[in-house]
Amino acid sequence: MDNVIKTILTLLVLASPIVDACEEVEVISCDNTDQVFITENNTHVVTSNISEKCRFVIPKEPGVCQMKLDLVIFELGDADAIGDCTADVMTISGSKTVKVLSVCGNLTGQHMYLDFGDSDKIELTIQGKSKNVAYDILATQLKCNHPNRAPVHCLQYFKSKEGSVRSFNYPRQQLNNQEYTVCVEAVSGVDAIQWRPCKEITGEPFFISGNSGKGKSLGAASGTQCYADYVQILGENRRCGSTFLPMTSFAKPFMLHVGFDASELPLLPLPPVLSLPVYFNRAENVNKPGFPGGPCPDMSSVGLVCTPPPVPCESHELGNRRGKEVTTCTCTAPAMNSDAMNTGFCLDFIQI
Ligand SMILES: *[C@@H]1O[C@H](CO)[C@@H](O)[C@H](O)[C@H]1NC(C)=O
Ligand SMILES: *[C@@H]1O[C@H](CO)[C@@H](O)[C@H](O)[C@H]1NC(C)=O
Ligand SMILES: *[C@@H]1O[C@H](CO)[C@@H](O)[C@H](O)[C@H]1NC(C)=O
Repeated sequence: MDNVIKTILTLLVLASPIVDACEEVEVISCDNTDQVFITENNTHVVTSNISEKCRFVIPKEPGVCQMKLDLVIFELGDADAIGDCTADVMTISGSKTVKVLSVCGNLTGQHMYLDFGDSDKIELTIQGKSKNVAYDILATQLKCNHPNRAPVHCLQYFKSKEGSVRSFNYPRQQLNNQEYTVCVEAVSGVDAIQWRPCKEITGEPFFISGNSGKGKSLGAASGTQCYADYVQILGENRRCGSTFLPMTSFAKPFMLHVGFDASELPLLPLPPVLSLPVYFNRAENVNKPGFPGGPCPDMSSVGLVCTPPPVPCESHELGNRRGKEVTTCTCTAPAMNSDAMNTGFCLDFIQI
């Protein structure tokens, strides 16, 4: 702590009748250290000019049950083409709300509620090597009885009648290993919630496992088709694909679960048919590499399984001298998770 650059800014909030006339805001960064503790309410965690890796430890203060993180600015390096945060990453651990969660890319404007549960500290680790890393995360402490506290399992929590929910890093590459719940608090007098693709955007509002694997879009997929990545609204089937058909759900509490699995394999090229020279050694009367019935080249590194042709019958053999003919190995792409190049989702909700 001693080395940490701490700045206490006193903001004079003159116009707002809601906020106290004087509100203290703490600004903290990882300059000159690689670990800082966040113990004050309303702390802004900001980019360090010096350290690439920062560990922010938030101890559970007496009476505090939950932290709200507002990602005022959050731009880390993007995920790679298959959804892994290989350049920069923020990892969240120690909260009962999510298992370890890693995010990267652009999350500006997003928020997260992290409940302590039985944990005595929550940790954020930010590894930011990219040139354009910039973040300003406002960390707010919420007491157990605070009216704005979210239910324990809700990473995102909306208390408005209408709004929109975006997956992290939308509309860029969808991230892997995302498992969390978004909750919408029912306003009084409503029976149901409607979900539909966002209107106010350019581009695809919904693209989750959207490729059919043959260069075609999957369309509106649901249920067991969505085995890899999906969103699921409480009371409804899983949804994935390249189209989200608007839905109305009467199941309360209003919740949307996000389940993105660990892999986003790149789309494979169409399976080739390999032409191989084939030799038959009659003297030894055995198949050897390259023989019919022998091994085909190993194409597993590009995700292909190749099978040799059947061993030819006697009449196709080429006598007792080494002969040569051409035959083919057939290569196929095994059933694959055609998830790459997905952008995630932006969904509007309205309570009715
Ligand atoms: C980091 O550097 C920028 C300009 O280079 C400066 O404005 C900012 O105050 C610095 N931040 C910290 C925490 O020192
Ligand atoms: C990051 O996302 C925010 C909110 O969607 C957007 O306003 C901003 O332009 C994005 N930044 C970049 C560099 O794309
Ligand atoms: C932290 O500040 C927020 C307002 O920004 C307030 O609602 C909350 O009660 C404060 N938390 C604690 C533990 O005082």
